[in-house]
Amino acid sequence: MSDATADPPLFYSSHIFFCNNQRAEGHPRGSCNARAAALGGVEKLRGYAREKARQLGIENIRCNGAGCLDRCELGPNLVIYPEGVWYRYETTSDIDEILETHVKNGGRVQRLLLQPDQK
Ligand code: FES
Repeated sequence: MSDATADPPLFYSSHIFFCNNQRAEGHPRGSCNARAAALGGVEKLRGYAREKARQLGIENIRCNGAGCLDRCELGPNLVIYPEGVWYRYETTSDIDEILETHVKNGGRVQRLLLQPDQK
């Protein structure tokens, strides 16, 4: 058995998954895409994030859409790997801050962080 130190290097420095799940109106859990509708929906915001990352000079990043991440009531949310840090965002300014503070500078945006016990 090999250990984790034998893992190959990361393929992406940062890999962000944006939940883009859409549920029908009135569903008790809601959905990330429905909550992001006022901003044009998650796919538009994901495209925004890709472009913003480029503008910030962030390289080797991937922004993917994801199905339901099962934290629906807290959404719209995203998770960044390899750290496994989750955020709730509401505006493009939130996305800007996550990219600049977390991805580019290695910090954390405390006001948007989701904690493991939040469900
Ligand atoms: S709908 Fe986004 S986490 Fe479930």
